[in-house]
Amino acid sequence: MVGRAIGSFGKALGDRRWKAFGAGLEGISKEKVDVVVIGAGVVGLAVAREMALKGRDVLVVESASTFGTGTSSRNSEVIHAGIYYPPNSLKARFCVKGRELLYRYCADRQIPHQQIGKLIVATRVSEVPKLSILLRCGTDNGVKGLRMMEGSEAMRMEPKLHCVKALLSPCSGIVDSHSFMLSLAGEAENARAIFSYNSTVLGGHVEDNHLHLHISESKDLENHDDASPLLPQLVLIPKLVINSAGLSALPLAKRFCGLDHNVIPAAYYARGCYFTLSKTKNPPFSHLIYPIPEDGGLGVHVTLDLNGLIKFGPDVEWIDGVDDISFFNRFDYSVNPDRVNRFYPEIRKYFPDLKDGSLDPGYSGIRPKLSGPKQPQMDFVIQDERNHGIPGLVNLFGIESPGLTSSLAIGEYITAKFPG
Ligand SMILES: Cc1cc2nc3c(=O)[nH]c(=O)nc-3n(C[C@H](O)[C@H](O)[C@H](O)COP(=O)(O)OP(=O)(O)OC[C@H]3O[C@@H](n4cnc5c(N)ncnc54)[C@H](O)[C@@H]3O)c2cc1C
Ligand SMILES: *[C@@H]1O[C@H](CO)[C@@H](O)[C@H](O)[C@H]1NC(C)=O
Repeated sequence: MVGRAIGSFGKALGDRRWKAFGAGLEGISKEKVDVVVIGAGVVGLAVAREMALKGRDVLVVESASTFGTGTSSRNSEVIHAGIYYPPNSLKARFCVKGRELLYRYCADRQIPHQQIGKLIVATRVSEVPKLSILLRCGTDNGVKGLRMMEGSEAMRMEPKLHCVKALLSPCSGIVDSHSFMLSLAGEAENARAIFSYNSTVLGGHVEDNHLHLHISESKDLENHDDASPLLPQLVLIPKLVINSAGLSALPLAKRFCGLDHNVIPAAYYARGCYFTLSKTKNPPFSHLIYPIPEDGGLGVHVTLDLNGLIKFGPDVEWIDGVDDISFFNRFDYSVNPDRVNRFYPEIRKYFPDLKDGSLDPGYSGIRPKLSGPKQPQMDFVIQDERNHGIPGLVNLFGIESPGLTSSLAIGEYITAKFPG
């Protein structure tokens, strides 16, 4: 039903019947549905799959032409252990649980992944206490196998590495995130979830204590100029809405008329660029290598992909004034080649042999953050009726790293919390 209604957008547009009703919503088709998941990133996919497997009728509304084109394909593809996050935080719980679920999921389905382990390194004596704090935090979070090492031992494991001490995390790894998402989407569809691509949630309004979603074809937004109002072609009336719109989740929530704006946290965005190591016959490292975390990110680290390609990143570049840009998904993902000049000195702290001219611009991603520069790190925020008073609306805010690792755990959590 719904699939058909959205599929017939073109026709609805063609007869332009909504025009006769001015800016109101009268005359626009309305559909009652069970669950709407906004956004087919890795988190939306994991939620949609789990809900569909539990027998719910799920509609995924995604503004892009396919799944996973946002942050979910612009990250380090690292399966995090769960070290960095305050004990009992959602990040700590979902990361540890999500990691276990993810390894099992990938092993059962032959999704490319590898548990290559990671070294967090102190390159100066003054950094060693921070390693001890991370060791304690990770252990409190239930991460198994963490072990402090002398620099000499770490440098025997990784001959190109320079450090004075290292924290070994054997359960960290890497995953092919595209294969993972392809599998989630396939399993969701097999469980009868419907995907509506090229469809954007413009906003919504609360009516009879329920959130009604305003849906439009994405191409109408692309051609949209600010002078005319945005009108939906369809109104969905779901029992349950999961706002997993990633970078747009906050600006979208602001477009839910009747949702108390005081409960919507401030949005901050921080771009992270990657540079790749060129001409590597033999990759210099076989583990993930991370420096001590920096403000806003985990530090310019070494990741390997499953083809052995080495990349360094992501750095942290705060971006301002993106509220409407973010709603329209018009992010700038270009990598400014000049930023490489900051990479060389950072990387040489732990990889002194890095040759001039060996780094090539890679790609970038943007972190959907809830804290700004120099502010304490924020946890994931999952809002429901108790926070905002609207039954059946779940907002997922600030799902930055370790969101990929956490995705299956978030899917299970939300599905268990909102049984049909
Ligand atoms: C630089 C960087 C490195 C990272 N590294 C790691 C890592 O190594 N390990 C890890 O675990 N995590 C990592 N993360 C975090 C991880 O990538 C994210 O937490 C995760 O991808 C978020 O998924 P999502 O589904 O919430 O969001 P997204 O992937 O952004 O998906 C949101 C989707 O919603 C769609 N959408 C937006 N607005 C609308 C609308 N109005 N209507 C319809 N659809 C809409 C978008 O098109 C998009 O497809 C990293 C993040 C960044 C930025
Ligand atoms: C989405 O839009 C793109 C570009 O406009 C088009 O090529 C693609 O076929 C559309 N996909 C779907 C599923 O409608």
